[in-house]
Amino acid sequence: MTITETQRPVWMRRHLLQMDDLAREEIEHILDTAEGFKEVSTRSVKKVPALRGRVVVTMFFEESTRTRMSFELAAQRLGADVIDLQERMSSTKKGESLIDTARNIEAMGVDVMVLRHPAAGSATHLSQSVGCCVVNAGDGQHAHPTQALLDLFTLRESKGRIDGLKVAIVGDVAHSRVARSNLRGLLKLGAEVTLVGPPTLVPRAFEALGARVCHDFDAVLGEFDVINMLRVQNERIESSVFPSVREYVQFFGMNAERLRRCRPDVLIMHPGPVNRGIELAADVADGPNSSILRQVTNGLAVRMAVLFLVNQAATGHAA
Ligand code: NCD
Repeated sequence: MTITETQRPVWMRRHLLQMDDLAREEIEHILDTAEGFKEVSTRSVKKVPALRGRVVVTMFFEESTRTRMSFELAAQRLGADVIDLQERMSSTKKGESLIDTARNIEAMGVDVMVLRHPAAGSATHLSQSVGCCVVNAGDGQHAHPTQALLDLFTLRESKGRIDGLKVAIVGDVAHSRVARSNLRGLLKLGAEVTLVGPPTLVPRAFEALGARVCHDFDAVLGEFDVINMLRVQNERIESSVFPSVREYVQFFGMNAERLRRCRPDVLIMHPGPVNRGIELAADVADGPNSSILRQVTNGLAVRMAVLFLVNQAATGHAA
């Protein structure tokens, strides 16, 4: 499929803030567009001029390796000029508010802002305060839409469909923006989602969103086409909602022995960064069922698609 063939009038949004906003056909349109861009990365000259003359700024107020580099590279592959706000060196450290900083950056002629911020809702707030496009690269525990989209892309590529797939999301669901965004996206595309983990991290309240909640991983292991293992967020281990790491690994860690009891073609996903030996044993992370590095590769194509589409909507070139 070529990029031109996928240009349908489905996408009209200048911002990508959360999966909740997107209709099924919008999600599918992003995935189809990303398929076209994936091909670009296989060329010897890995560039297309779709965003030539445009300026993309990455503003990361939280640690990130994959997401930041992926957005930067995606923007570069589209021919955009890319600048990176170095949070530690920026004036927000001198007390300037996020919105003031953003407005000043925008005054230099920025077209797209990619924001990661520890405060839930910050990307939406930013989108209401600036005139350029805003892409949410993770806001607190709330949303991480491009992670959900790259996971959906990887899943569709690997299984050929999403409708009817049985997907488990395992771990600290309560505090995970990845889990929340994946859940929304998967349900919209027709997957059956089971959230697995201890009751403190996977409360029954999630059933109201349309997921099944299960506290016994071993009892359901063999059911799934896809198992998405969340990172054990070390920053929460001290808190009372988290069991001891040893206990967590014993009941919820994915290892070779558990993998043997899964479907032979089960896809093991992880958003990274992986705590080897905790949520995932090293041999599973590196084994044939793991899609971890494929997710990273696909993340680039998905972020190219997102940057391309929001910019297209903003410049009025949406077909
Ligand atoms: C995730 C994040 O930061 O939300 N990582 C990522 O974006 N690849 C997941 C995590 O940190 O656990």
